[in-house]
Parts: sequence; structure tokens; C-alpha cells
Amino acid sequence: MKLYQHNHRGGAMVALCVLLLPILFPSLFTPLGHASPSILSEWNAPKHRHARLLKGALQSQTSNEQQYDLWMPLANQGWKPCVESTIAFALPKSSQGYIQVFLDGGLNQQRMGICDAVAVAKILNATLVIPYLEVNPVWQDSSSFTDIFDVDHFIDVLKDEISIVKELPEDFSWSTREYYATAIRATRIKTAPVHASVNWYIENVLPVLQSYGIAAISPFSHRLAFDNMPMDVQRLRCKVNFQALVFVPHIRALGDALVNRLRYPSRKNEVVNTNYLREVIDAKEKQGKGKFVVLHLRFDKDMAAHSACDFGGGKAEKLALAKYRQVIWQGRVLNSQFTDEELRSQGRCPLTPEEIGLLLAALGFDNSTRLYLASHKVYGGEARISTLRKLFPQMENKKSLASAEERALIKGKASLLAAVDYYVSTNSDIFISASPGNMHNAMVGHRTYQNLKTIRPNMALLGQLFLNKSMNWSEFEQAVVEGHQNRQGQLRVRKPDQSIYTYPAPDCMCHA
Ligand SMILES: *[C@@H]1O[C@H](CO)[C@@H](O)[C@H](O)[C@H]1NC(C)=O
Ligand SMILES: *[C@@H]1O[C@H](CO)[C@@H](O)[C@H](O)[C@H]1NC(C)=O
Ligand SMILES: *[C@@H]1O[C@H](CO)[C@@H](O)[C@H](O)[C@H]1NC(C)=O
Ligand SMILES: *[C@@H]1O[C@H](CO)[C@@H](O)[C@H](O)[C@H]1NC(C)=O
Repeated sequence: MKLYQHNHRGGAMVALCVLLLPILFPSLFTPLGHASPSILSEWNAPKHRHARLLKGALQSQTSNEQQYDLWMPLANQGWKPCVESTIAFALPKSSQGYIQVFLDGGLNQQRMGICDAVAVAKILNATLVIPYLEVNPVWQDSSSFTDIFDVDHFIDVLKDEISIVKELPEDFSWSTREYYATAIRATRIKTAPVHASVNWYIENVLPVLQSYGIAAISPFSHRLAFDNMPMDVQRLRCKVNFQALVFVPHIRALGDALVNRLRYPSRKNEVVNTNYLREVIDAKEKQGKGKFVVLHLRFDKDMAAHSACDFGGGKAEKLALAKYRQVIWQGRVLNSQFTDEELRSQGRCPLTPEEIGLLLAALGFDNSTRLYLASHKVYGGEARISTLRKLFPQMENKKSLASAEERALIKGKASLLAAVDYYVSTNSDIFISASPGNMHNAMVGHRTYQNLKTIRPNMALLGQLFLNKSMNWSEFEQAVVEGHQNRQGQLRVRKPDQSIYTYPAPDCMCHA
């Protein structure tokens, strides 16, 4: 649910309430978490809301020049990755004790928490215990750090800067999640403010470490500031994010297999089973890689309901979403005060599959484009996706590209499924997301670091264009192209308060 926070100008506190809600009222969430398949009864199949534009898009032809520009990799922008710290920042001689963190949220939020945990342990000259990943009440995946990330690689990459242990030593084995869940404990740090400073940790956590040899920080998400940090702390956070955190080998192997099948579609139907590695090597010998774009389409019921926009499913859908909103957020969703038109013109409605299809077509992607759909489940299912598929018949996802056997290890595990999508997304020629959120931000950051093309939809412009029912296709196309000229991966330097994980320059990058 944290994914919504960037929709709100109101800032982190509102988001945190939403974020903590499932923890405070877990029983409220459990039945709804499983309620999604009921969708069909909720509406009449959604109509095309932009039938005229769709007709134009299906008939349009893009010039070779437009295609060439679109797929051309980004030029060198004068920046390079820069994450190594200075010598003075080496491993402390003795540890002040153990830092333990419990991380909630989805995979991308936990990833930021891991980077921040390393930084906090470094600030305090402490030893970090491999972070504990809480089970998310919506996604219900109990995968641990070591199920998702290559833990030995993680420890090894950071070994000269910080000491990390997989488990607490015997003396401290009492310090568990259950121990903190059942009573108030002296070693639990519960009051870390959002975006806490270095001094806050030194004043409030160091004494606990010195008295007890351990400090368990929870909640910890978003608890370390982005500004006024020593440069080496910033670089260490970047090093964790971009170098130390790699997925376990089976995720990478499956990801590589998907990437190769996207690049060489003729190989898709060959039997591979568990031999993805062989396929990867074979494929490398071939010339002329095919290109592909990843579309992150998060359009599930939570998102649809939270936005309070109208998505064309008629009265039944409107009622269903309003009811869902009432049960879960009980009037705290400020968006519902606005009309659909107001929300759209402010760019606060996630793009529907139809709308993102029109955006892609207007940008110049044609029906031969290989599109990988990184998404969980789409509210409305195939009825909503079919328009997108009409525009992009070569649309793929994990399921269409890999056999059930190949997917066995990740089946039903939201974090591992998200990890595969993350991996494929960092290896695509182009990435685009249908709504701002944690995945979008993580990719903007990761791909900026690698100088890869990332299209950022201009939500306010698109909202206004889709409201204007008198536009024809060529006007729409022109307005879209003009409105996205500077939104294709041009590097933006981080501003105060912004996240280093979304804007890695200048903290994690240097002038080349
Ligand atoms: C792709 O678009 C072209 C031109 O718009 C059309 O002639 C062709 O039939 C389309 N191909 C498919 C597979 O839809
Ligand atoms: C950590 O260690 C460094 C170098 O050994 C020292 O300068 C710094 O004051 C220490 N910080 C804390 C919080 O102990
Ligand atoms: C809608 O689009 C038409 C054609 O581009 C334009 O003339 C008109 O001003 C637009 N209307 C609004 C309300 O923006
Ligand atoms: C779209 O509208 C513009 C401006 O009204 C007009 O010049 C153009 O011919 C129209 N294009 C089509 C394909 O109808």
C-alpha cells in the first residue's frame, strides 16, 4: 500500500498511516486480500473510453525515423557510477554492538530499508544482522532475505566497510520478533522519526547499543534522512542498492531466460525446462539482439480504489470501489473529495491498460514491439488487457514466456515474482510505468545509474488529453510526443528531500 505515497503532496506522514494500517488492523485486511477474483460480478465489461483514439492508433504508421529515435540508447550524459568510499571510512576496529531491523512493505520498500540499515549500522560502528522482512498483509509472502537476495555476495561486497552477520550469536538469541511483539522492551527503538538525522541515531540508539550490546529498530522504513549525510554514508547506501543487493541465482537465471526469449522470440517455444543457463550461453553467440520494452502496469483493485477515479466499469464498478475504499481507508482517502475530472486533470488517476496503450502508440511503438508486462494482477483481468493486446500483439509476461516448471520456485510468492520483474526491468532497452509508485521510483533510480532509457509518463498532460473528447489521433500523438521529449531518461539531479534511490546523482554518481 506504500505505493501510493507519491501521489500525495501531503507527504510521508499520511503515507505512513496508510502503510501502518495493515499492521494495526491485520484482521481487516485478510479477507479482502483474497477477495480479488470476485471482480467479474462487479461490472459490466469496461467499454473503450477512447474509441476514436484507439481507431486512430490501430491505423497509424510510425516513420522509421521515429522508431530509430525511440529505440536509440541514451547518449552519455556525463555521469558515471561512483560508490566507493574513501580510505578513512574503513571497517571500525571494534563493534559497538548489533543493529537489528524489521522491514515492512513490498520488495522495493524493503530494499530501501536494507540500504538504510547498512548506513545506520555504519554510522554507529555497529554490526548489522541480516534484516528481517515482515510478511506483507496484502501480498502474504513469507520469503526471507536469503530467499530473495544472495546473502554471501551481500556480506562479501560490503566486508571492507561494515561487518554483517546472518544471525545473532547465542547470547542475543532472545532478541526476536516475537520478543518485541509481546511486551515493551528496553532494546527496542520504536520512536525513530521519519527521515531521522545522523545525530538522532547517535543520541538515541548508540546509548542503547552501549548498554545492552543490541538495538532493534522497528518501524524502520523511511527512518534515515536523505540530506545532511556524510558523503561516504550516501555512497555506502548506493553501493548496497546497486552492487551488494543481487537476487539469488535461480531468480537471475529465470530472469536471464525471460530476457533472452524476449530478445530472440523464435527461441521461445524451445524446450528448456531447468537448463536456462545453457540457453543464455547459446543466445549470446547470436548476432543482432532484438529489443524490448518493459511496461509496469500496476492496476489492481487497491490502486483503482485508492485513486477514487472512474475507470469506465459503470455504476457497479463505481459502487464496488467506493465500498472497498470505505472499508479499508474509512474516509482517509482524500482523493474521494474530488470529481473524476478534477483528479484526471491533476494527473492523479493511474493510466488504464487502454490509456497506456494509446500513450505507447503515440510515442511511436508499433504493433511489432515486444512488450513485457511486469504486473501483479490487473483489476478487471483480460477484459481490460485486451485493448492493450490489440495494439501490441507481441505482449508477454512471466507466464507466457516460461513454463510452469520453470516458474515453480516463485509461484505464489509476491516478493520473488516482483524480484523477477525487477531483474527483467533492469535489463530492458526501455522501461515505462503506468503510475508513479515504489517500482517506478526504484527503476528510475536503477536505470539512471546504468544510463538506460526510462519513459516517465506526464500524468497531468495525459489526464487533460484524455479528457478532451474532441482531439483526433494526430493531434493527440503530437501533444504526447511533445510532452514527453524531456521525459525519456534525461538525468535529473536530486533536489533536497528527494530520495537517493530515485535520483542517484550526484550522491552515487560522479562527473565522468
Ligand atoms: C500492424 O500494423 C500494420 C499497419 O498499421 C498492419 O498492416 C498489420 O496488419 C498489423 N499487424 C498485426 C499483426 O496486427
Ligand atoms: C566510529 O568509528 C570512527 C573511526 O573509528 C570514529 O571516528 C567515530 O567517532 C565512531 N563513531 C561512533 C558513533 O562510535
Ligand atoms: C481540445 O482539443 C482541441 C484540439 O486540439 C483544442 O482545440 C481544444 O482547445 C481542447 N480543449 C480543451 C478544453 O483543452
Ligand atoms: C485532426 O485535426 C486537425 C485540426 O483540427 C486537422 O488539421 C487534421 O486534418 C485532423 N486529422 C485527421 C486525420 O482528421
